[in-house]
Amino acid sequence: MKIELAIIGGTGVYDPEMLSDLEQLEVTTRYGTALLTKGTFKDSNVVFMARHGAGHSVPPHKINYRANIAALVKLGVPRVIATAAVGTLNEKMPPGAMVLLEQFLDFTKARQATFFDGGESGVVHTDFTRPYCSQLNNLLMQAAAKAGLELQEGGVYVCTEGPRFETSAEIKMYKQLGGDLVGMTNVPEVVLAREAGLCYSTVALATNYAAGISEFELSHQEVVDVMASNVDKVRRLLMSAIELLAAERTCNCKELGNDILL
Ligand code: HPA
Repeated sequence: MKIELAIIGGTGVYDPEMLSDLEQLEVTTRYGTALLTKGTFKDSNVVFMARHGAGHSVPPHKINYRANIAALVKLGVPRVIATAAVGTLNEKMPPGAMVLLEQFLDFTKARQATFFDGGESGVVHTDFTRPYCSQLNNLLMQAAAKAGLELQEGGVYVCTEGPRFETSAEIKMYKQLGGDLVGMTNVPEVVLAREAGLCYSTVALATNYAAGISEFELSHQEVVDVMASNVDKVRRLLMSAIELLAAERTCNCKELGNDILL
């Protein structure tokens, strides 16, 4: 049975509420095991994965990103829509705004960020001029319009190593470099998805002004609370997007990727 889409739920998006006929899957790859829930929505088969594991128990720097993406490849899933709670550096994308990511700046430090580690897996340099899938991004914009939801385009995401929040000097620097939003998980997730030839998009939900822009100190609880009060529009967007999924991929994500070892 063909699975059309994977949803990777970030902070605050923990359950596949919109899906029915649920089935738990455990997919083992050479990188480790991933847990997923398979289900249906309208006529589509969808898998859902909670990025931080059951009960938000895995911190950003310990997520097994390679096992998660390899599991999707093993299941034959062609497309991924991820959600992400993010801090915002851009007053045009205030807390509560939904933003589609278009570019990233990578400030992670110690992660397994590639499937191509030399040796048996080979040496591969993948194009990242446009890291997110243009077809899936367009579809999400259409889905937002259809559902009457506001979704901004063009988010530049800064990925930090975490799990600590940033200093105000770091945020000032990221802003000068052109960053709009800051989070801890999109790299290497988007990188591995492209390396493996998957279409990947991220819907970011701004939960807080970043350090030094906010007059308050930051807390994970604030992120969780703001996400909880906005999660409904993320869900509505996802449901609208699933209904619009075209059978054919007209982007070049598959061609830009390569076969990975599973
Ligand atoms: N910084 C990093 N990650 C985040 C933030 C933030 O301010 N808010 C939500 N995730």
